[in-house]
Amino acid sequence: MKATAISPANIAFIKYWGRRDHNLFLPLSTTNSMNLSECKAITTVEFGDYSKDEVIIVTKEGKEKVLDRSEGEKTGMLFQTLDRVREFAGFEYKARVVSRLTFPFKAGIASSAAGLSAFVAASFKAAGLKEKFEDKKELSREVRLAGSPSAARSVEDGFTELLFGETHEESFTQKIADENHWDILDIIPVIASGEKKVSTSQGHEIAQTSPFFDARVEYLKGKSEIVKNAILERDFDTLAKYSQADTLNMHAIMMTSEPSAVYFAPESIEFIRLVQEWREEGIEVFFTFDAGPNPHLIVSSKYKDHILKEIEKLNFVEYVLVNKSSEGVRFDDSMSTF
Ligand code: DP6
Repeated sequence: MKATAISPANIAFIKYWGRRDHNLFLPLSTTNSMNLSECKAITTVEFGDYSKDEVIIVTKEGKEKVLDRSEGEKTGMLFQTLDRVREFAGFEYKARVVSRLTFPFKAGIASSAAGLSAFVAASFKAAGLKEKFEDKKELSREVRLAGSPSAARSVEDGFTELLFGETHEESFTQKIADENHWDILDIIPVIASGEKKVSTSQGHEIAQTSPFFDARVEYLKGKSEIVKNAILERDFDTLAKYSQADTLNMHAIMMTSEPSAVYFAPESIEFIRLVQEWREEGIEVFFTFDAGPNPHLIVSSKYKDHILKEIEKLNFVEYVLVNKSSEGVRFDDSMSTF
């Protein structure tokens, strides 16, 4: 009763921040994203004669972190998911879980997206629950229920969307286009890989304390459709315009909630300025930020070398990740982590 799943993280163009329903993890609107080829989690789950559930994350640097049920909402949800799998499977076996990340843990690179989708997929497969892991729509609903509507987008290949949905049934992931559809890159100059002060779980809970929250809900109307069409038509300028506006809109909510969550570092702002300059020079590039200081530079691949050279000039960049679009969750037992 052992299975291994590999899942990419993703970078959202229309972002999930705040929820309509905190139990079902229903988002405020449809959100969409591109899967990231170099930011993956490889997760093995085994149910067996263990005395208790054990969940271990192995970081990019090889450091092991043993997770505890009481550590916070997101971690608690992992253990609740194991309970849910046992309930469906009708057994009492405890689980051993080892998840390896190929990129920094909690650096605002949606570490939970890769981790959670691989974890949920491997858990249901290890328990033999075919109806849950073979159907991608159902798998995406389970990933969402495990605490992450953003992770649910990693289930499908390439460019994907998690639908708004009035009910649990209606909020699932759909593919917009596969990973070979459009040659754009997500270049991430990592400026800080430390852990964040306001957790994303807390951020989702407090989003509605922002005086601009209702304005964001209104603003989101129709935006995912515009971005989806821009992806389908490979229309870089439209994607840039709406995605950049969305990230700034989301960060306005973050900064004006109670308590305030400011994820930008001074270097993040420097990148906003640089991207504006590069755009004026005619380079196809735009920025987007998740809940962290690291910019994601979405770049038409013909400008890759140019942007990498520009980044090299900056002494505050620790290292750079270059992502293509990637397939979604895969199963591969030959990659077992234990
Ligand atoms: C800001 O609940 O997905 O990335 O994975 O830890 O980043 P992390 O938390 P999560 O909230 C972050 C959401 C977002 C936007 C998005 O990916 O849609």
